Amino acid sequence: MTAPTPRPGSVALITGGTGGFGRALAKKLTALDVTAVLADLDNERNRAVAEELGCPFVALDVTDRAANQAVVDQVEAEHGRLDATFLNAGIAGKSRQSLDVDEFLHVLDVDLLGVVYGTEAALPALRRAGGGSIVVTASLAGLAPMATDPGYGVAKAGAIAFVRSMAPRLIGENIEVTAICPGFADTAIIDGIRETFQQAGFPVLSAEEVADAMLAAWTSGEPGAAYVIQPGLGAIPYKFKGVPSAKTSNGETATVPGALRPTSAS
Ligand SMILES: NC(=O)c1ccc[n+]([C@@H]2O[C@H](COP(=O)([O-])OP(=O)(O)OC[C@H]3O[C@@H](n4cnc5c(N)ncnc54)[C@H](O)[C@@H]3O)[C@@H](O)[C@H]2O)c1
Repeated sequence: MTAPTPRPGSVALITGGTGGFGRALAKKLTALDVTAVLADLDNERNRAVAEELGCPFVALDVTDRAANQAVVDQVEAEHGRLDATFLNAGIAGKSRQSLDVDEFLHVLDVDLLGVVYGTEAALPALRRAGGGSIVVTASLAGLAPMATDPGYGVAKAGAIAFVRSMAPRLIGENIEVTAICPGFADTAIIDGIRETFQQAGFPVLSAEEVADAMLAAWTSGEPGAAYVIQPGLGAIPYKFKGVPSAKTSNGETATVPGALRPTSAS
């Protein structure tokens, strides 16, 4: 995607903002005269990263529903508005073989419920701004789950389903909700497996490539779209296949009642 640029003076919130994708996106936004507020876990390293980038930092654990609301309130109070929120905070599971249900639930808390809480918190502020954008960092693993990390696959698939479910109902309010689905990218999240990729000659994305797609999803994303990002391909909207329709007793294709009908958002 070649993206139109956001309006200078816009305000964006990035959760997981001091991580690999967050930093790359923050640099691009700052260069475009957008205020990028970095929300991340409260520690010295994360505060120092934000300071180095010249971006405001807000402490946030995305699993804390009330804290998501407080952060959005703080952004509006300090910067006057919210135009875009990047729900990007995420973790991967570490147990490669056994099913560790505690870890599974924690990954869901961060990677899925963090997205739901972040959306709940952002929507009123985006409405007050006259519209805006929510960009969810899902993953290719949400479309093609990895056997090594079931919690991650479930959380990211859930995040994509959430985006596709929310997008149609917000179109009328000028609020676009999209997902990006990067393949493996060179950030701290692949620290434990980077060498394996290198040894196999397997290409990984740079954080900058992913940040370009995040920016494009904000400024020109189709509501409900899930953009796959792969090395050598750029960002392309994933084509969902749909499901077989029910048949009536006459063998005709049944039509879902109007109020329940899915829209064509993606
Ligand atoms: N790097 C990849 O290969 C890859 C591929 C697809 C999707 N993703 C997704 O991209 C997003 C960004 O990851 P990244 O690659 O930049 O990795 P990263 O580890 O550099 O960044 C993740 C950030 O999320 C923050 N975070 C973790 N738990 C949090 C919590 N409870 N509350 C607030 N912040 C929290 C971390 O502090 C960190 O800054 C994640 O959602 C990740 O799942 C990454």
